[in-house]
Amino acid sequence: MTILENESVKRHTTFGVEAKAQTFIEYSSVSELKSIISSGKLKDRRFMCIGGGSNLLFCRDYDGVLLHSCIMGIDKIAFSDKEVLLSVGAGVVWDDFVSYCVEAGYYGAENLSIIPGEVGASPVQNIGAYGVEAKDIIESVECVDLETGVGRVFTNAECCFGYRDSIFKRADYRRYAVVRVTYRLSLVPRFSLDYGNIKSKLEGVEVNLKNVREAVIAIRESKLPDPKVTGNAGSFFKNPVVAQSKADELLNDYPEMPHFAVDGGVKIPAAWLIEQSGWKGRQLGNAAVDARQPLVLVNYTGKASADEVVALSDTVAADVKAKFGIDIFPEVIFVK
Ligand code: EPU
Repeated sequence: MTILENESVKRHTTFGVEAKAQTFIEYSSVSELKSIISSGKLKDRRFMCIGGGSNLLFCRDYDGVLLHSCIMGIDKIAFSDKEVLLSVGAGVVWDDFVSYCVEAGYYGAENLSIIPGEVGASPVQNIGAYGVEAKDIIESVECVDLETGVGRVFTNAECCFGYRDSIFKRADYRRYAVVRVTYRLSLVPRFSLDYGNIKSKLEGVEVNLKNVREAVIAIRESKLPDPKVTGNAGSFFKNPVVAQSKADELLNDYPEMPHFAVDGGVKIPAAWLIEQSGWKGRQLGNAAVDARQPLVLVNYTGKASADEVVALSDTVAADVKAKFGIDIFPEVIFVK
């Protein structure tokens, strides 16, 4: 177990924005976590779990305890001739898990290649890319209640998954720390290749796990900035879903507007709305809208403060609202 006081969060997040955490605790097992709880270290204090910090923006110093799981291991807990169940530690780097599945011939995780972050965050955020979401392969989520130290397993249905959303984001469920996630993978070849650019990338090729993974990596690397080079937190905004009538109205004025029918309405790429609002590649202070993928806000100079990122986010959202009458909301979590 590691306990650090007054720890910089810059080391534990991908935006490269400075803030301090009063206490930062890292644990390597469920029993270590339970001993932290029973020793009273979290009592009457604010606390929060973080994974790879790839979806967080600390808006100020954190006056509480940040908890980071280093629980490792990928264990095969059941299999048939069609499926395998893997129990994976919350601290495993997400892409190490995806790479393991691809090497082992397990189908289902390959479209989620090189998403930054760790396994523990995958159910919280219901991470997704290229037509697949974590919810499609999650069987159950093993948690510990940080207030009582009692364990609880959430089935897939109990996680209430939505677009970049789950029960773990609700205020009264934030007390659960994810310690392990069980994934259900297929042993029978099964691919999701309907998402536009992945389909075209693999046109005329006999698909297998390795070339799907390679295609996803190539697409992501061609348009998403590497947080090791330029601080960022992936997609900064969610793609808005509007009513059919609103979409029809906009399509009258902008017939070229990309749009996708989804449950509950029409999804419009926030990247397009931001680009049309003139923000693609534009800078405000030390923060900027990425020049290749405008859905991503970047710490352009490496010196951006959280206030500058928030100012940019607010300005971009206000301009999109003024031009299109659509609200766009951050998917990045602002920690205040
Ligand atoms: N677009 C533009 N201008 C641009 C770039 C894109 O207009 O400069 C439009 C295009 O119409 C394009 C559309 O945006 O067809 C969608 O772009 P893309 O396929 O790159 O996906 P996205 O909607 O921008 C979402 C996820 C990504 C995920 C990709 C692929 C969200 C918030 N983001 O982005 O997730 O990798 O789809 O599935 O849903 C993340 O969450 O951090 C993330 C990167």
